[in-house]
Amino acid sequence: MATTPAGGAHDSHALAVAAERRWAFVVGLIIAALVAMMVFTGLQWAAMPPSRVETVDPRTLHIAGEFIEPNLGTSVGADGKVIVRLIAQQYSFQPQCILVPADTPVTFRGTSTDVIHGFVVGRTNANAMLIPGFVATFTTTFHKTGEEVMPCHEYCGTGHEAMWARVQVIPPNEFLAKAAEGKRVSCVSR
Ligand code: CUA
Repeated sequence: MATTPAGGAHDSHALAVAAERRWAFVVGLIIAALVAMMVFTGLQWAAMPPSRVETVDPRTLHIAGEFIEPNLGTSVGADGKVIVRLIAQQYSFQPQCILVPADTPVTFRGTSTDVIHGFVVGRTNANAMLIPGFVATFTTTFHKTGEEVMPCHEYCGTGHEAMWARVQVIPPNEFLAKAAEGKRVSCVSR
């Protein structure tokens, strides 16, 4: 009876061990790289916090300051800048319908009264996360007139999927005629 060559079994075992070691080394390298990235970004953010962080007290939001109800909606500043102020709360946006001019830079300023919400305007790049305690702001220009839907895109509770507003983009001259009276403009009847 032929004996199994003990050396052959040994060889394949040694081969397997070597392969295992190689892979353990590669996995170790990947983990070390990820940990290094975490440490680096952690230190970087601690050393250089993001600029332009604006805070707001969600408990007094409705009583005083920038986000009281008469301030919500679109306005044209003395410098001609178009600003939309809005708040999000479970489960609606205020105002429910936002009116903006086309082909004009529009600055959005928004915050939340309760939990984290967010919104995106149709298929445009207008997209923000609304975090209680912070003011989210960005400037964008809408080129297409018409109505866009603006859903909440951060899960905020059982009514999340029913939380949305509308944005109406109208020609700039039409918008300026409405805003000329110096008041807040929105497409919600008051
Ligand atoms: Cu608000 Cu989801």
